[in-house]
Formats: sequence, structure tokens, C-alpha cells
Amino acid sequence: MKRIKVKSLLSEKANGQEICVKGWVRTRRGSKNVSFIALNDGSTINNIQVVAEGDHFDEELIKKITTGSSISVIGILVESKGGGQNVEILAAYIEILGEADTDEFPLQPKKHSLEFLREKAHLRFRTNTFSAVFRLRHALTFAVHKFFNDKGFSNIHTPIITGADAEGAGEMFQVTNFDLDNIPKNENGIDYSQDFFGSKTNLTVSGQLEAELAALALGQVYTFGPTFRAENSNTSRHLSEFWMIEPEIAFADLEENMDLAEEFLKYCIQYCITNNEDDLRFLDKRLEDEEKNLKKEERSEMGLLERLQFVIESDFVRLTYREAIDILRNSKPNKKKKFQYIIEGFGSDLQSEHERYLVEKKYKKPVIITDYPKGIKAFYMKQNEDGETVRAMDILFPLIGEIVGGSQREENLEKLTTRMEEMNVDKEELWWYLESRKFGSCTHSGFGLGFERLIMFVSGMKNIRDVMPFPRTPQNAEF
Ligand code: 4AD
Ligand code: MG
Repeated sequence: MKRIKVKSLLSEKANGQEICVKGWVRTRRGSKNVSFIALNDGSTINNIQVVAEGDHFDEELIKKITTGSSISVIGILVESKGGGQNVEILAAYIEILGEADTDEFPLQPKKHSLEFLREKAHLRFRTNTFSAVFRLRHALTFAVHKFFNDKGFSNIHTPIITGADAEGAGEMFQVTNFDLDNIPKNENGIDYSQDFFGSKTNLTVSGQLEAELAALALGQVYTFGPTFRAENSNTSRHLSEFWMIEPEIAFADLEENMDLAEEFLKYCIQYCITNNEDDLRFLDKRLEDEEKNLKKEERSEMGLLERLQFVIESDFVRLTYREAIDILRNSKPNKKKKFQYIIEGFGSDLQSEHERYLVEKKYKKPVIITDYPKGIKAFYMKQNEDGETVRAMDILFPLIGEIVGGSQREENLEKLTTRMEEMNVDKEELWWYLESRKFGSCTHSGFGLGFERLIMFVSGMKNIRDVMPFPRTPQNAEF
């Protein structure tokens, strides 16, 4: 008999038909005469109730229906007598597919801490919270592709192994097949001509540079792939391996870039509200329960769903870096030295405490900051006339901080090479990038969205390790 998914069963009417369902047991309760089994198959956050009447089933079989075990049930879909669900299954036949020894199975039908579940990443998919998060992750992946496809963008797969350091920050994982105990050397040090690719290579920190090349032919492109950063930041917002979406648009300036990013973020959030209502309701409730344990001033002002709706309906605030610095310099926490990093003036980098002040205290909305000092941004950003700032934009979100970083690109070959020299970026290594400015160069712009940060915002999860199936962070690459 073909199995029917719980999601479709729950939307069906009880018309007495015989059906087959398979899934994992969340709980079993009841008496000798009757057992009530809550069964979940991952198609939805909701369980279907299976009713097993005692005289039908062997006691030994019922005993094996424990939390975490997998079973197959054939039975009749009937109207539910209890509250909480419209239909339930009156079981005629139950088969144990896989037992789960209660003494050993780590997930009990009670609330486990997220920290505990991180150590059980191989099993945490089995919880309501993580199944909801990863269904949302999927929905967002789909929304990203749909958004760009509907706008006529082409998805470009940029390389994961590269020789370039796109961000110029030097935070790269090296890729080599050298025997590390016996590395070939020459008079200059390590002889990379003998390495696998004949040159020094690393895992990509961004697909942008290659995406730019494609954009200058296909017009509108985007990458969506894994990126790797060997920065030693053990924070709730950094991963060593994360996924980034990077659109790149020919003939677009910073203004159009910001408009696209704002529309894109709102689209993705709306997609989840429309298509993942049950998961979001569950996570909304979860967050509310979690925050009950916090002090009043530490609780979020809005619930999850309310916050998502609010962001969709808000116009993002747009201000320049100079304006942001003025606001921050004159802010209460700066004057009272409450910030860990005091804002002195132009040139200070914005720390997450400053970003959160602007977004959560001052404007209470997403904020886009533009025109940063060139000294704190990458070499490829278009230089402004003032000689001090570049056409950069960062989008800051409530509770997350920076979610998007982007810019208009420097299309002038001379200005670009001068900037690379000033910033010690290897021109020989990036000869191919420079040729895009030599042949048919034009105004173009793009941005990068940190995919996990978007999932954090949509799901309300507060640690980035809880929205990545198997997170990689400093000192941790288990599973
Ligand atoms: O601001 P970033 O470094 O920008 C770039 O890489 C550009 N090449 C993007 C472009 O213009 N095409 O990174 C972009 C975004 C950040 O805003 C943040 O959301 C996310 O990527 N991000 C991280 N997410 C998780 N863990 C990390 N270590 C991250 N570093 C950046
Ligand atoms: Mg950035």
C-alpha cells in the first residue's frame, strides 16, 4: 500500500477510507485498553494521532512503540473524538520499522536546550523546532531562486576552489594535496608549482568577482553557494562555512542595488508567511515561551510573526555613513560611554552594538547605510568624488545586525588598479578581473546576503548554529 503523507491526511475528510502512513513516534500515551500515538513524518510540524485499541494488538508490539521509533500504520481515517485534530487513524495493522531504545534515545518528549541539541545534530532534525527551521530553510532557498528567476536573472555557479581573495581580508582556508610533512620548497619558500593546481589555492570567501564577469555579458546574474571564512569569530552570527546569495547587475547603480535588495528581502519573508504558516506559528509560540524566562527589558518588543509583517510593511531607512556617525556620536550610550567601542568620528568601523542601536533603538526598522570610508571596505567598491568614501551599502536588520553587504563596483580601470596597489591586492593574480574593466566596462552593482542570517531573522533563532544543519565554527567540524 502506498503511504500518504501526514500533511495531506490532516487536510482530508474522514470518509472511512483505508490508508497507510509511516513516520516517527513523538509520544505514546494511554492505557492497557487503548494507546494514542502521536506520529510525525516531517511533511508538516503537525502530528497525526494513531489510535491502537488494546485487544487488537500484542502487548509486546505496543511496548516497542516508543519515542523515536519508526512505524508503519495501516488503518481507517476517522473523525477524531478528542480535541486538537479533526481526523485520526484507527489502526488495523502496525509494523515496527526501527526500534529506539528508551534508555538510549537522547530525545525525550520534553524540552531540551538548544545547546544540548547542538551536540546531537544528527538527531535534532527529529524535534519540532529543528524540523520547522529546516523546512523554512528550504522554503527560503526556493524563494531565492524563484525571485531571481522571475526577474530574468541567470544563476551562475562560481568556483569553490579559487586562487583569489575576493574580499582582500586574508581569512582563507588553503586547499592543497601536499604531504604536510614533506612540503616542496624552492629558493622563495614553498613551491606551489608542485601543488595540485600548480598555484596556491583556497576555498572561496565570495563568488562576487566571477559573478561580475558573468553579469558583464548576461546582464543580471546571481550566485548561491557555500563560502568559507577562516576568521576566528566565535559569535552567534558567524560561521566558518556559510551560504551566500550574490546578485550582480550590469548598468545598475547603488540606488537600484538597494531597491533590489529591499524588494528581495521582503519577497523572501513574504514567501515564508504565505507557504510556511504552521512552522512560523510554532516558532512564534516557541520564542514567546523562551522569552518568558527573560527580564522584561531583554524581551523582544514584537512577536516573531508581528516582526516579519512589520519588516515587510516598512520602508527601510537609508542614511549615509556620515549621518550614522553623527547620530551615534551624539547618542546617549556613546556620551555615557556605554558602548564598548566609543565612536570618535569619521573612520570608525561600526560594531554590532552600534548597528543594533540604530536599528533597534533609533529607527526601530531595517536601516541601509551607504558611502562608508574607503579604508574599511574592499578594493572593488566604486570611489566617490570626495576621495574618502565608496559607494557601499550595508543592510542592518533588527536582532541580526548586518544581513547584506554590497556596493556599486569601480568600473574605471585606472582607479581600480590604483586602489589595489594602495591596499596591497595582487594585480597579477586578478588579471582576468581587471580585463573586465578593459573591455566593455560599465556601471554595475551587486550585493551579498548571508543566507543563515536571513533564516535566523525569519525563524527567530538567536544562534546561527541553529539554522545550519551541520555548522562549522572554530574548533568544531563534527558530523
Ligand atoms: O559583507 P560581506 O563580506 O560581502 C561580500 O562578501 C561581498 N563580496 C558581497 C557582494 O557584494 N557580492 O558578506 C556578505 C554577507 C554579510 O552581510 C553577512 O550577512 C554574511 O554575508 N556573512 C556571514 N554570515 C555568516 N558567517 C560569516 N562568517 C559571515 N560573513 C559574512
Ligand atoms: Mg560586510
